[in-house]
Amino acid sequence: MTVEEFQGKFGIVGVSVAMREVVATVMQIAPTDVTVLISGESGVGKEVIARAIQGASMRADKAFVAVNCGAIPEGILESELFGHQRGAFTGAVESRKGYFEITDGGTLFLDEIGDMPLPTQVKLLRVIETGEFMRVGSSATQKVDVRVIAASNKSLDAEVAKGYFRQDLYFRLGSVNLRIPPLRERREDIPLFIEKFSEEFSQRNKIKFGGFTQEAIEILTGLDWPGNVRELKNLVESIIVLERGNEVNAVTAEKYIPKAGAFYSTEATSKFLPVRVGKTPEESERELILRALWEIKNDIVDLKNLLEANGLERKLALPVPQYPFGLHGEVGNSANGKELNLEEMEKYLIRAAIEKYHGNKSMAANALGISPRTLYRKLREYKLKDV
Ligand SMILES: Nc1ncnc2c1ncn2[C@@H]1O[C@H](COP(=O)(O)OP(=O)(O)OP(=O)(O)O)[C@@H](O)[C@H]1O
Ligand SMILES: [Mg+2]
Repeated sequence: MTVEEFQGKFGIVGVSVAMREVVATVMQIAPTDVTVLISGESGVGKEVIARAIQGASMRADKAFVAVNCGAIPEGILESELFGHQRGAFTGAVESRKGYFEITDGGTLFLDEIGDMPLPTQVKLLRVIETGEFMRVGSSATQKVDVRVIAASNKSLDAEVAKGYFRQDLYFRLGSVNLRIPPLRERREDIPLFIEKFSEEFSQRNKIKFGGFTQEAIEILTGLDWPGNVRELKNLVESIIVLERGNEVNAVTAEKYIPKAGAFYSTEATSKFLPVRVGKTPEESERELILRALWEIKNDIVDLKNLLEANGLERKLALPVPQYPFGLHGEVGNSANGKELNLEEMEKYLIRAAIEKYHGNKSMAANALGISPRTLYRKLREYKLKDV
């Protein structure tokens, strides 16, 4: 298979030398069982690469489980990964399998590995080297066959130097270290991303798409994209939703360009999208819609983080809708005429998280991937004070 064919098969966009080199390495290491460390800023495509490695491996038809180590409270990460015995700690009313057992035979993607507490790192190193581990509260050794792919957007070098990350684990993980460069270091990929994201998004949501002018593409290509590919994708999708078939020229493109970091940080988003005065009603309206869309999108990110990070999907068996905000018709319509009711789902998940952490709101917020402040706001909004 050529590099292009591989990229096509796994949907990896990029013509830059840097990306092609990453893909060439991926093709070499995928079929082996070697542990891989993928590093790079937020939104550069670490998970895309991890999935391609799994998809091209001998474990392609086995489980791929992603765990965001940064989103799981320190105290429970170890039991989430390795499971626990009944009675191992307060609240452990029954024994439970951890991700390593669940993933046996498959590939475990450990995202934000730099946030893993040191004692858990010791256990991780052991399971990578020998396949052996013990459930929390148990002294019986178990054995699994799991391939580990780790990712980090922190420099693990620096974490090691500060004493937050074990050097032996770093060396072990880094036997193959794939560094994905930030988008601003491979600008030649930007026009391709714009094309791919606008085609995919408009087709999937049946929205007319008027195309970008060359100038508009040049403007977007010149930006620094601190949130990398994710930020670019979000921006392209907003433009398509709100422009509805209009051609996007330089003037239109400029209107959507966020102030520094706006599309990057979900917490900051609404603050950075002020409805400015001195605009036509149409422009103000557009900004209001954009703001509403962003809030919905952030909510979806919150839900997704919760489901992915905490394995709640195992407990709650909740479906994860891809586009619950249903952009099939006009903004605000429901998808395929079905009411997906995001608010109900959110309430449900908030209650579940608070229950899971026995009323500890800051742990619940952490698990939901939102700030405690946001959680309190939502509790007030939804009148969930008494849960
Ligand atoms: N090379 C690529 N080809 C196609 N899509 C990409 C590529 N890189 C990133 N994307 C898209 O950009 C978004 C972000 O990618 P991904 O989730 O893999 O980033 P990440 O590095 O894991 O980010 P984070 O550090 O925030 O977890 C996803 O929607 C992904 O599909
Ligand atoms: Mg990721």
